[in-house]
Amino acid sequence: MAETTITVRDNGPYIVRGEFTVVDAEGKPFEKKDVVALCRCGHSATKPFCDGAHQREGFSSAPRAGQS
Ligand code: FES
Repeated sequence: MAETTITVRDNGPYIVRGEFTVVDAEGKPFEKKDVVALCRCGHSATKPFCDGAHQREGFSSAPRAGQS
């Protein structure tokens, strides 16, 4: 099984790749995909997925591992 990775995009969403299922608070699965972009800015109209609103809203966050 391939490793699942979550990439924190600079000023944008979390990109999830690999074997995973996104479920709602009741455990119901969203449509299965190999790659999804999860909203990190809170402005998406299609939460939990990114719809590009982070660009319009000027979301700014570029964390680096090991610098917390
Ligand atoms: S991160 Fe893209 S809309 Fe929120």
